[in-house]
Amino acid sequence: MSTRIAVLASGRGSNLHALLDHLDTLGDRRGGSVVVVASDRSDAGALALARERGIAAEHIEPGEKSLRGLLGHHRVDMIVLAGYLRLIPETIVREYPGRILNVHPALLPAFGGMGMYGERVHRAVLASGARVSGATVHFVDEAYDRGTIIAQWPVPVFPDDTPHVLAARVLRAEHRLLPRVVDAVAAGRLRLIDGKVRGSSASGTEHAAFLLESVDDATLAAAIESSLAC
Ligand code: GRF
Repeated sequence: MSTRIAVLASGRGSNLHALLDHLDTLGDRRGGSVVVVASDRSDAGALALARERGIAAEHIEPGEKSLRGLLGHHRVDMIVLAGYLRLIPETIVREYPGRILNVHPALLPAFGGMGMYGERVHRAVLASGARVSGATVHFVDEAYDRGTIIAQWPVPVFPDDTPHVLAARVLRAEHRLLPRVVDAVAAGRLRLIDGKVRGSSASGTEHAAFLLESVDDATLAAAIESSLAC
């Protein structure tokens, strides 16, 4: 039985779009299906996208009652936060251990936490002088952006980047990372066990943070040389 996924989104829904497209590409191989999209904003683009795709789309009031009602009505197994700006009530977090995921547009634990969303994140990255940023997908706990990290993917930060340009580069990484992590968790290839992410034996490659291990020394040295040439 395919895992029943709820996506919560407050904005335009480009991550939702990437997730739906990826699951469609997987067809019968998918680990789960999005059965409902919900938003705290009735005008969210994510709700319009869900309706276009024939998926239940619901505006929910903030707070536990309406979220709990939605999750029960749609028999939701797993929750994906794709740009959802509200905190998930602690009681619900505890009822979905290892089954609530969030995507963040920076390499947590840096540049995360209360108030760190949208271009504020990228402005902080640029102000810090960091030369790498990226996307993070993590399990959700009771605080913003603090749960166990599942996977990350780096993108370069260039000296003349604006927050808008960097946001777009990071978003491209999000669109490729989030769907693959969601499918791996939905299919049970990645699990949260005793606070750590565990892959099933066949899924060693699911862990995205293998960059340095998968590149031979000459290629790595050449890449570092070229990054210094800017
Ligand atoms: C993404 O950058 C995500 O990392 C953050 O909110 C943004 C949502 O964008 N949590 P979209 O609505 O998926 O386009």
